[in-house]
Amino acid sequence: MNTRFFLWGFILAWSFLFGSCDDRETNGTSLILKSPGAVNSIHFDLTDGLPSYGVYHLKTEVLKPSKLGFVFSHQDTLQGDFKVLNSEITSVDDTWEQVWGAKHSIHNTYKQLLVELQETTSKKRKLNIEFRAYDDGIAFRYIFPKQEADSIQIMDELTTFELKDDGKAWWIPAYDEQRYENLFTASNVSTLDTVHTPLTIESNSGLALSFHEANLTDFASITLAHTSGTTLKTDLVPWSDGVKVKASQTFTTPWRTLQISEKATNLITSNLILNLNEPNALADTSFIKTFKYIGIWWGMHIGKYSFWEGPMQGATTVHAKEYIDYANQLGIDHLLIEGWNKGWTPSWYENKMHTFSFVDDADNFDLKEVTDYSNNHGVEIIGYHETGSNLENYLKQVDSAFALYKARGIHTVKIGHVGSKLNMKEWHQGQFGVNYFRYILKKAAEYDIQIYFHEPIKDTGERRTYPNMMAREAARGQEYNAWSEGNPPNYTTILPFTRMLAGPMDFTPAIFDVEVSEGYPGKRVHSTRAKQLALMVVIYSPIQMLADLPENYVNQPSFQFLRDIPTDWEDTHILDGEIGNYIVTVRKDINSSDWYLGSITNEEARDLTINLDFLDDGATYEAQIYADSADTDVTHNPSAVTITSAQVTFGDTLRLKMGASGGAAIRFKQISSNE
Ligand code: NOJ
Repeated sequence: MNTRFFLWGFILAWSFLFGSCDDRETNGTSLILKSPGAVNSIHFDLTDGLPSYGVYHLKTEVLKPSKLGFVFSHQDTLQGDFKVLNSEITSVDDTWEQVWGAKHSIHNTYKQLLVELQETTSKKRKLNIEFRAYDDGIAFRYIFPKQEADSIQIMDELTTFELKDDGKAWWIPAYDEQRYENLFTASNVSTLDTVHTPLTIESNSGLALSFHEANLTDFASITLAHTSGTTLKTDLVPWSDGVKVKASQTFTTPWRTLQISEKATNLITSNLILNLNEPNALADTSFIKTFKYIGIWWGMHIGKYSFWEGPMQGATTVHAKEYIDYANQLGIDHLLIEGWNKGWTPSWYENKMHTFSFVDDADNFDLKEVTDYSNNHGVEIIGYHETGSNLENYLKQVDSAFALYKARGIHTVKIGHVGSKLNMKEWHQGQFGVNYFRYILKKAAEYDIQIYFHEPIKDTGERRTYPNMMAREAARGQEYNAWSEGNPPNYTTILPFTRMLAGPMDFTPAIFDVEVSEGYPGKRVHSTRAKQLALMVVIYSPIQMLADLPENYVNQPSFQFLRDIPTDWEDTHILDGEIGNYIVTVRKDINSSDWYLGSITNEEARDLTINLDFLDDGATYEAQIYADSADTDVTHNPSAVTITSAQVTFGDTLRLKMGASGGAAIRFKQISSNE
């Protein structure tokens, strides 16, 4: 990786060294940490031994003094009777480059306050807290240094986020059988129960906020529980025995993060979560690639094929070769094949300990023959492991399964975890699951394999450290349109402001036959085809599935947009948007001077005028516009796309007309420039 890491961090500040053990001397310690542009500030306070922190955005109080601390199983609660042993402010301003991403070069500038606390009681336990203030938000984490305790069991984290103002929160419920796969509800913070992060809030103060966490390593995920008024409290997802986190001697929590912005659209381009992760740990990243793919997949979801062996089996050698030929015809170089292995049954999705094989071919499928054919035709197969959440079974086979794929020239594996609990016992989001997902990520890297998870834990930015972590599901994807009441038209206008703040999603866009003519009666995609094109830009993933049956793409003029669109970006801007209503996203190709635009709307038709001031000044572009036809919306002629072109330059304006649940997709192809 081409990481440039310029650190001109200098140590600014001061140290408070309290020689005496008399806690009275600490009465009234207040420390303020301001972000580099003095936009956000954290106010740490220790009064009568009790630490708290509050947050301001300029002069607006965002969080009132909020609590810090832990409850343990065999030790007293760690929350009060503290003195400040030492405190130190440092500052960092550097830039680093992503192996792939929505933006190539990432600016990382923040100020950090380290507060070292020690109990004044006879136990004298220590607790350090690192606070970071960025111009786009704040973060903090706890470090429990090595001291008396041998084994630690955290029973509760006492951190609160005491919001000054109520606001509209866009939430999905925690502790749900469907993991993160729920529709979002918008309601006041003061009425919430327990919810997942990222939690985006349109505050009554006018600010857009998002709570989440970064670098979730060897810890339980946080969910947020409403306690009273506008207070949220960290609620760590427990192990099956009720313990929240198990550690020996010492622990460091993930960063607790709060992104703060004056416009919700700016939350999307904030890199706070990535900046709080550790730099790339992989010495060799040459096996990592971004790409578009098709799959023997949608056919199973719409009921055309079965996952299991039999007359409707999707993954046969014959179909695989057909799909490889389609990939060639369409100019797509990756193909996912699900159901290729032994163990699939018609009840594969039920909560039970399914025993899939990850090395044995299903009847009528020959992995060697298929990969020989694909390798000869310039198409790479994407491997598939559906664990059914039976990790006991999976972990026994994972080395041989990855070795098999590597030997067959496969460098990408999709790994699924259908089931309400891992091993029918542990929440996906608990410490057990967090450690399992990290183990697999590192294990895959040993075999030069990049992965994407379905039914995963949420993304907290680990793709910075392990760039073979490509994408994940962690939300309702397109598949819900195939077999459920579906995702309503506003759903994809909510995702970019909520789920997508965590990281890339394998949403599987680009269904052309939105009425799903070969599918289950009454089931369909609640969007126009132009909106499906636009989702390729709006919902970021370095591996984008063209999810429809490949025959639906053949000879379709609008397939040109799918052929052209890249999967790695120099830069991203959100031109306009409102949560749940619409969004206009533009991204610049990393390998050319072209820009791509995706614009989508909810159930309301919309007419937007956008300013093209993101284009290079002095250059001329051909705008290739794919839009809903004049009479098109989600219920009328939804697959009609009108393709037009126009010559445009920096500063021009363009009108985007979208039908109900429609969209527009544009390639701005640079045709000349001053340079
Ligand atoms: C659910 C996943 O989201 C989907 O993509 C996959 O096809 C099925 N599980 C089967 O593993």
